[in-house]
Amino acid sequence: MGSRRDFLNQISGVALAAVAPSSVLAWAFPLPERQGVEFPGEDGMILRSFRFVDLETPVEYFNTWLTPVPHFFVRNHMHEPSELNVDDWRLTIGGEVERPVTLSMAELAKIETHAVVNTLECAGNGRGLQRPQVPGIQWGKGAVSTARFSGPRLRDVLQRAGVKPSGKHVMFRGLDEVPGRVPPFVRSIPIQKALDSDTLVATHMNGAALTKHHGFPARALVPGWVGAASCKWLTEIKVLESEFVGNFMSPAYRFPNQPGKPGDAVKPEDTHPVTGLFVKSVISGPRDGTNVKAGTIAVHGTAWAGEADIVKVDVSTDGGATWNPATLGHERAHYAWRLWSYDWNAKGGDHSILSRATDSQGRVQQATPVWNPSGYLYNAVDQVKVHVA
Ligand code: MTE
Repeated sequence: MGSRRDFLNQISGVALAAVAPSSVLAWAFPLPERQGVEFPGEDGMILRSFRFVDLETPVEYFNTWLTPVPHFFVRNHMHEPSELNVDDWRLTIGGEVERPVTLSMAELAKIETHAVVNTLECAGNGRGLQRPQVPGIQWGKGAVSTARFSGPRLRDVLQRAGVKPSGKHVMFRGLDEVPGRVPPFVRSIPIQKALDSDTLVATHMNGAALTKHHGFPARALVPGWVGAASCKWLTEIKVLESEFVGNFMSPAYRFPNQPGKPGDAVKPEDTHPVTGLFVKSVISGPRDGTNVKAGTIAVHGTAWAGEADIVKVDVSTDGGATWNPATLGHERAHYAWRLWSYDWNAKGGDHSILSRATDSQGRVQQATPVWNPSGYLYNAVDQVKVHVA
């Protein structure tokens, strides 16, 4: 039977990294096949890959502090698990522990719950803006979203098994279905981050059970770090003596120790794993390439800084010659983005609007990002061009 997956596999070779409007999705999944296939893409999301589900949030959706779940970006390296029965689901905790444990969802649910509002950003967000271009999903600005995640703390889950002093890293494995002979999506985080009181085994997002796209029934939530740390469809936690060795720790998800010349190769030994997010802002309105009327225009957007806090966002409406502070939104949480807005008295002509965020660690967005061969952590000053009539 020609399933949706077979179909996606067939077309993946030609359509990787394509941007498809919802009309293309309608073509891809003619009824009745589409029934029961929940694609937020129908709701204006940008489809970045046909092969697996990779959906980008359009920047104009960045107008609420918490992203509604259907508008939350989706990043999958593999096929989502086809079967997920919460009654059969188990989470094993093993490795460098005193007593390996297996928990059912009912047992997990007995552990005290904690909530963290976190901005989750894919390490590859903005890859499509890197120059020279790099291979990989050509994300624009929207592989980032914010939600209130809740569930037990990872440290409380680990405590059930008792971490041995030899335990220095914590590995996560999900239930993804691995196509062919590609390596599974397995990664690890250092024990200090695993034991942080805000690192979760999240079961809920914005108050509702996780949806399948976002890791139902449980995922790791490693706040302030690249999304790749937050393993979805979590089924195994293993405490290790040293960092996990595998494709998604090396060569993938590594960043140059020193910025180099754009386009130059980077030796593996001159790289380190990507962890915390960089400081970054994005303009969500007015939209790039639009015509606007002269008068007061609210330039608005969002800014985030991983484990640091946003302290200010400056806006330029003259291509960077002069800068003015934006007003930061009142909704805030340690790992969450801040909405911001700046009232611009727009006069006729062509204008280049820029936004530049500064964080509590003194990091400031720069005009150009650190180029790297995988296009990770793009965080250049944002820019839109508008014509004022
Ligand atoms: N976990 C599993 N098991 N498989 C994956 O492919 N993708 C990771 C991470 N966790 C992934 C995963 C990446 S690269 C990102 S950016 C985030 O999930 C995206 O989370 P989201 O789809 O809920 O937005």
